[in-house]
Amino acid sequence: MIIDYDVLVLGAGLAGMRAALEAKRRGASVGVLSKVHPLRSHSGAAEGGINAALDPGDSWEIHAFDTIKGSDYLADQDAVEIMCREAPRDLIEMEHMGVVFFRGPDGKLGTRAFGGASKARTYFVADITGQALLNALYDTILKEGVKTHDEWFATALYVPDGTCRGAVAIDMLRGELHLLRAKAVILAAGGMGRVYEPSTNALICTGDGHALAYRAGAPLMDMEMVQYHPTTLKGTGFLMTEGARGEGAYLTNKDGERFMQRYAPKMMELASRDVVSRSETIELAEGRGVDGCVYLDLRHLGAELIHKKLPQIHEIALNFLGLDMVEVPIPIRPGMHYIMGGVKTDSDGATPLAGLYAAGECACVSVHGGNRLGANSLLDTLVFGRRAGAHSADYVKSVKPLESGEEFLKSEQQRIQALLDRPYKGETHARLRLELGTLMDDKVGVYRDEAGLQDALAKVRAIQARAQSVSVQDKGRIYNQALLFALELDYMIDCAEATIMSAIERKESRGAQARSDYPKRDDANWLKHILVTQTPGADPKISYQPVTITKWQPMERTY
Ligand code: FUM
Repeated sequence: MIIDYDVLVLGAGLAGMRAALEAKRRGASVGVLSKVHPLRSHSGAAEGGINAALDPGDSWEIHAFDTIKGSDYLADQDAVEIMCREAPRDLIEMEHMGVVFFRGPDGKLGTRAFGGASKARTYFVADITGQALLNALYDTILKEGVKTHDEWFATALYVPDGTCRGAVAIDMLRGELHLLRAKAVILAAGGMGRVYEPSTNALICTGDGHALAYRAGAPLMDMEMVQYHPTTLKGTGFLMTEGARGEGAYLTNKDGERFMQRYAPKMMELASRDVVSRSETIELAEGRGVDGCVYLDLRHLGAELIHKKLPQIHEIALNFLGLDMVEVPIPIRPGMHYIMGGVKTDSDGATPLAGLYAAGECACVSVHGGNRLGANSLLDTLVFGRRAGAHSADYVKSVKPLESGEEFLKSEQQRIQALLDRPYKGETHARLRLELGTLMDDKVGVYRDEAGLQDALAKVRAIQARAQSVSVQDKGRIYNQALLFALELDYMIDCAEATIMSAIERKESRGAQARSDYPKRDDANWLKHILVTQTPGADPKISYQPVTITKWQPMERTY
């Protein structure tokens, strides 16, 4: 079947739904495709809150400076200015859509402190902020008539004559492939967390948006910038929100010492994430951890605050480790959480490939640079989702409908059938996925060096070759999850390759890229973005782009 839209959105998390809503409001016909039900999107896992400078004692300029400093000066400052100026309008709009943000006893919207921020500007709904936003936005898109294709999985972008004109997708329920033709496509497929093992990310975060764009020839930017969140639960990778430290929780080592005093004496536990994750890694390497973990200690916050403001993480620690954080410190370690890099876009979400837009975690605008501040990601999804929706709706007005596409749909059907027909030769997607994830965590984690990165690249290329013989043992059509896993594995391998190549290229330490062989930031040579572009039949190509500096010159970064 061929279905036509003006704007096709791939992904129904916050960025995708916000983009779809804006494009629809501006008169475009819009289809949203999601590999899960929209309310299961990974935006729902964002716990701690969303940033905006709303308080009279705060300003968009201070928010922008904190963001740029947090990025280790790699963020494009014009894009950061847009995000921080527009943050209050997007936050208030979500409140009007029905999100019940926390209010203090005076009835005013309440904030909590977050890492790397010089003011408390994080607005929140207990520790389920992402889910609260997702629910309100989903209600709104349904009310306003946006069409969704739930449990559809995109296998390829349709790019005739160098312009993106849609995507082929599998309807997972029926096992049928369709072409969704469109005048513009917005990728909003989220992150690639599962390229690492463990990760705070849902199993669905497999870099689909990154890989679809990469295969279509769009460049990926800043892919070496992989954020490790300082507080993920021992043995599970579950996120223990930074909101806990925002409410005053301590990080302690095996001796009960608040070790952050050695690394960030001013901001302590609320230094930015790259700094805290490195500090924990040093504590562990120097033998001051227990079983590969340090502790998150909330006991002094008291039962009432924990139950009221942090109920979800309280429940998770209890259910998974049997530990009550009211009574005991919780073992945590740094864990992969977010990719700052993604499909290169301008501040309206447009990529260098005509007709293709991206927004949210799969995009790189770039507002996060080398390290994202906590609670800026929800903000990024709303601001740049809205802007991509608006720009694409204008763009499609001058684009003519297409008649073609049957041949492309047939070729995708044949490709997927060939994968289903492949005989079993011993390789499984599950084994390769685990190998890939543990390799990335081991060699491309908090600290990296040349030898480890070269080893990782060689091993990823070997995994890539072995993935060519993965077979899908379920031959059925209905909800063929094994087929989905095999396709996702290929996407993950593409993301891993781009990440490692960029990390090898950047010969300095900046933000999340901590190279033990190049321990210093080197603005003279590396104050620039690294882009990776896939080139058919050859190695991916590396190129550079200058960082946009408006008014904040790079300075030494201390917390
Ligand atoms: O810790 C957290 O609640 C995570 C928030 C974020 O990544 O923005």
